[in-house]
Amino acid sequence: METPTEARIEVQRERPEDPFPTLAGHMGVFDNDLQEILISGEDIQLKVAELGQQITRAYAGRDLLLVGVLKGAFVLMADLSRHIRLPMEFDFMAVSSYGAATQTSGVVRILKDLDHEIMGREVLLVEDIVDSGLTLSYLLKNLRTRKPVSLEVCALIQKVGAQQVPLHIRYRGFEIPPVFVVGYGLDYGERYRNLPFVATLRPEVYRDAVS
Ligand code: IMP
Ligand code: MG
Repeated sequence: METPTEARIEVQRERPEDPFPTLAGHMGVFDNDLQEILISGEDIQLKVAELGQQITRAYAGRDLLLVGVLKGAFVLMADLSRHIRLPMEFDFMAVSSYGAATQTSGVVRILKDLDHEIMGREVLLVEDIVDSGLTLSYLLKNLRTRKPVSLEVCALIQKVGAQQVPLHIRYRGFEIPPVFVVGYGLDYGERYRNLPFVATLRPEVYRDAVS
């Protein structure tokens, strides 16, 4: 089928040269805060495409519902879902386990529940990062009581050796050491979520915050 030319949007294909060639690559304003890039934006994109293909194969012919854990997973949800070549639906939950600190409190609060019932649905929970695993463990327990047909997890990052509870993460992007990271949805005090890569912060950033 031919696209009507008048409806087609012309885009500029050449990217203008980056005016801020810095560590952050595109946001020089963060350079003083960042220590090291652990996972590049390119590596994330490749991995997310791969996860999308795995999920597409696994859920073909099934009734997939992606459940994103806000706020951190919103970036992954957006990228991942566009690599899943299946009809599917979306829902979101918002939970809080940290407040503004960098250590888990072990207490999970549901700030926003799902909009819809999940009974009889094939649920894939999408998480940004698994640290102690307490958040995920709580969420899985909670969602299981609502009787989905299946309940699996996709997490971009898992911190090695940090889990306090056993968890099965069916679709996992990367393993990193147990350090605090920001970017690609992950925040420190609500900032840095928009970085396209995952990086550590300079210790001064925490020191300043603690004072
Ligand atoms: P857990 O309950 O300890 O597994 O922590 C899970 C939640 O804490 C994640 O969904 C994130 O929101 C947050 N979190 C854990 N580690 C990090 C990190 O390194 N950077 C930013 N947020 C994190
Ligand atoms: Mg957070």
